[in-house]
Amino acid sequence: MSRLLVTGSSGLIGSEIVTHFHSKGWEVHGVDNNQRAVFFGEAGDTRWNQRRLAERCPGFVHHELDVRDRHGVLALVAQLTPDAIVHAAAQPSHDKAAAIPFEDFDTNAVGTFNVLEAVRRHAPDAPFVHLSTNKVYGDAPNELELVELETRRDYASPAFANGIAEDF
Ligand SMILES: NC(=O)c1ccc[n+]([C@@H]2O[C@H](COP(=O)([O-])OP(=O)(O)OC[C@H]3O[C@@H](n4cnc5c(N)ncnc54)[C@H](O)[C@@H]3O)[C@@H](O)[C@H]2O)c1
Repeated sequence: MSRLLVTGSSGLIGSEIVTHFHSKGWEVHGVDNNQRAVFFGEAGDTRWNQRRLAERCPGFVHHELDVRDRHGVLALVAQLTPDAIVHAAAQPSHDKAAAIPFEDFDTNAVGTFNVLEAVRRHAPDAPFVHLSTNKVYGDAPNELELVELETRRDYASPAFANGIAEDF
């Protein structure tokens, strides 16, 4: 059985990832600390979704952990050595980011860095999927042609060999 670690597992995207991989027979572990309720107040509370996963996905394991907790993240990834990671824990609002820049950076940048480093140390062969945002480049990158290489996909055009320019 393959083991998946999903961060932000009580959120919109993370919970769908949990449901999908659970239905495919994976052992699924989620990380979430209901930080959404801190960011957005009572209306942002995701405990209902955590309970829904517990009811509908027998065997799903919830880990109450903050991705900003570097040592906790390192320890969990070392313990699980997951076969794949989907990183969806985030402060997802652009307007909110301007209002709470330190909290936004700590979760979105430092939290992501913590998960990446934990994976590099303890599960270096596992694919790492990061749910970023279409606000970086808009939808235009979705229209670029891709090629499938041995270990990853890449842009077909050599013009993007070093990435996408900031003015894309
Ligand atoms: N929803 C979309 O349409 C969409 C589209 C493109 C990209 N994305 C990206 O996908 C990611 C997830 O989006 P979403 O819509 O599922 O957001 P969401 O707010 O529904 O879910 C995020 C989850 O992460 C948890 N979380 C936040 N900070 C945390 C922390 N420090 N530690 C642990 N858990 C934490 C929250 O409690 C929440 O359950 C974001 O990066 C977002 O930019 C979303």
